[in-house]
Amino acid sequence: EEMTKGNGPAEEEVPEGLEELLKTDSTEEAQALKRDIHGFLRLYQRFLQKKGPALEWEKIQQPPEDRIQAYDLLQSTPLPKDVSELLNQLVVLKLNGGLGTSMAFPGPKSLMSVCNENTFLDLTVKQIEHLNKQYDCDVPLLLMNSFYTDEETQKVCKKYSHQRVQVQTFTQSRFPRIRRESRLPIARSLSMEGENAKAWYPPGHGDVYASLYRSGLLQEFLNQGKHFIFISNIDNLGATVDLRILGHLVTTATEDHPCEFIMEVTDKTPADVKGGTLIQHEGSLKLLEIAQVPQEHIDEFTSVSKFKIFNTNNLWVSLEAIKRLQDKGEDMDMDIIVNPKTLDGGENILQLETAVGAAIKCFPNALGVNVPRRRFLPVKTTSDLLLVMSNLYSLQDGCLTMNKFREFQTVPLIKLGASFTKVQDFLCRFQNIPNLLELDHLTVSGDVTFGKDVILKGTVIIIANHGEHIDIPTGTILENKIVAGNLRI
Ligand code: UTP
Repeated sequence: EEMTKGNGPAEEEVPEGLEELLKTDSTEEAQALKRDIHGFLRLYQRFLQKKGPALEWEKIQQPPEDRIQAYDLLQSTPLPKDVSELLNQLVVLKLNGGLGTSMAFPGPKSLMSVCNENTFLDLTVKQIEHLNKQYDCDVPLLLMNSFYTDEETQKVCKKYSHQRVQVQTFTQSRFPRIRRESRLPIARSLSMEGENAKAWYPPGHGDVYASLYRSGLLQEFLNQGKHFIFISNIDNLGATVDLRILGHLVTTATEDHPCEFIMEVTDKTPADVKGGTLIQHEGSLKLLEIAQVPQEHIDEFTSVSKFKIFNTNNLWVSLEAIKRLQDKGEDMDMDIIVNPKTLDGGENILQLETAVGAAIKCFPNALGVNVPRRRFLPVKTTSDLLLVMSNLYSLQDGCLTMNKFREFQTVPLIKLGASFTKVQDFLCRFQNIPNLLELDHLTVSGDVTFGKDVILKGTVIIIANHGEHIDIPTGTILENKIVAGNLRI
């Protein structure tokens, strides 16, 4: 509501400050930025014109059954004998605009070490290299960087130059942050130097379609005979190339109404409160994100009874279709996510963002495919990191698979307290990663450290109160135990 009132600039107007800036600076960087600003203005104008919410809650319906298909039943004529022919139509894109801030890792999150000294990026490169060798094909890896991650990522990419995978990058847009009240940009110059850096932001992964198009790489891939792009978060270790889904796209490509967009969704559990879901709204399939849900419906949204699935952000899209939509020169009318922030200096600003999955509404024959949970293995917190570093998973050719000796193929619920939030602290608190093979639930809170070769089974709760330190000695086995102070139950 706050967004629709106020006395911002009139519609279809370039915000004052911005126009001035665009006139002043003529460096190469500024020229590039001017192209970005074009995209910003379209988003900004839609934001100003927006009267009320994009979705009316009452009009939200469950998607028709045939629009969300079970993975196992997905039409997939036997895979062509020549799998390489199938794979040669594919480009893999990883969204790599984010920093490791949530775990206090300095730099691009993709460069954080997650598994046997491999970073997210190393694992991705290994996966694709393996695919290229196994099927004698040529699947390129494309990274969408942001101005936060580009420089460091480019440097690191050099180390892959001798591997059998072509790694390419492009940079997403940078948009100006606007003041919450006046809705005018806070930027004083186009530069990113010093204080001025905080005047800009990467506008969410929905920017991928426009940025990919503008980079010229979309056309280049089409020229090379590529037809599909698999887009996913670089921190989702389960987002590997799936031949069945690719096969489905390739099969329907020759039909009258080809499927040009697949969103991988998966069953929601009570622990999954955040992810967006697919809904039917005014005749089309749409992504509903928590940020769009009115406060009074949040509980309904996060429960598993009404919204049973959520978006993994693994998306398969036709390159021709992206080109067709971008050629029109319009933006794809993706719902705007208004992200309010307070900057270090206390300034209240807004970031206008979009989500990559919101483009689903632009594709009339889009499908949701309900995939097994193993395709969603995100590492957002050090609790997730503990899981993937442990013996619950084994690593082969860049892919993590769950240990076959685990009785049920579900992951334990892990909650590490604040003293584990930063990745450096987390690493210092374990002499090595405990054996979690038979663990169901672990809660750790306070100043706790672990010796070598600790084994955790069943439900384990360890709580060090303020001012206390608990060390779990080397070789300890804790099974269904509560450890608090001198207490061991
Ligand atoms: P997020 O930080 O948005 O993860 O980044 P999230 O919390 O899971 O939220 P959603 O629901 O997916 O949005 C997801 C991926 O998108 C990239 C990040 O690098 C990460 O791989 N990303 C995010 C970009 O590339 N650009 C952006 O502007 C934002």
